[in-house]
Amino acid sequence: MSGGARFITLEGIEGAGKSTLAATLATALEVRGQIVRTTREPGGTALAERIRDLVLQRDAETVAPEAETLLMFAARRIHLDNLVRPALARGEWVICDRFTDATRAYQGGGRGIDAAWIETLATAVQAGLEPGLTLLLDLPVELGLARAARRRGASGARIDRFEAETVAFFTRVRARYLEIARAAPQRVCVIDASATPETVQRAALAALERLR
Ligand SMILES: Nc1ncnc2c1ncn2[C@@H]1O[C@H](COP(=O)(O)OP(=O)(O)O)[C@@H](O)[C@H]1O
Ligand SMILES: [Mg+2]
Repeated sequence: MSGGARFITLEGIEGAGKSTLAATLATALEVRGQIVRTTREPGGTALAERIRDLVLQRDAETVAPEAETLLMFAARRIHLDNLVRPALARGEWVICDRFTDATRAYQGGGRGIDAAWIETLATAVQAGLEPGLTLLLDLPVELGLARAARRRGASGARIDRFEAETVAFFTRVRARYLEIARAAPQRVCVIDASATPETVQRAALAALERLR
């Protein structure tokens, strides 16, 4: 692992509370005088956000799981080179809403893409950079989807290719996330995301303290 101690990734299914936590964590670090970049995947830079649009948009053309996986990693490398690595090199914190664990869980667990192939791509694209800490926001699928539906109702946004997936799909995603956490307990901290936002935030800050 190199240089990623201040690189925090947030993971979990839709509606788990990643975006909510990203904002509160950033504020908590800023209060301590840290400079924080809050970003997301796929996307995070202008070019990578264009890949995000391509991969999320529901289109007449088929996007096979293999194509989806390659687009995710293409966006990731662009994001790492143009935003994440430069920020870390300046001594800033980077809080990233989804990273490679999302590819493992969604494309691997959800879509059935070969896990070994994902690791080969991850090794090439990350070139030794790993998050210092990953917070996995875990909650029952039905609860996450209900929260996401309520949020979407409020925003009026159109449903994307992942939001259109079934409960069975997200059940596989959640299970794969938990397997990843079991296999990497040093890096991944599982947080009960069915709790109140205050409780989730407290657990996240406690995990951050252990890192420092
Ligand atoms: N711990 C929580 N308890 C209840 N509602 C929450 C909690 N965290 C987030 N929410 C709400 O659930 C919705 C989804 O949260 P969000 O942070 O957007 O999730 P994600 O980014 O993981 O999809 C939002 O409307 C948010 O306000
Ligand atoms: Mg979000």
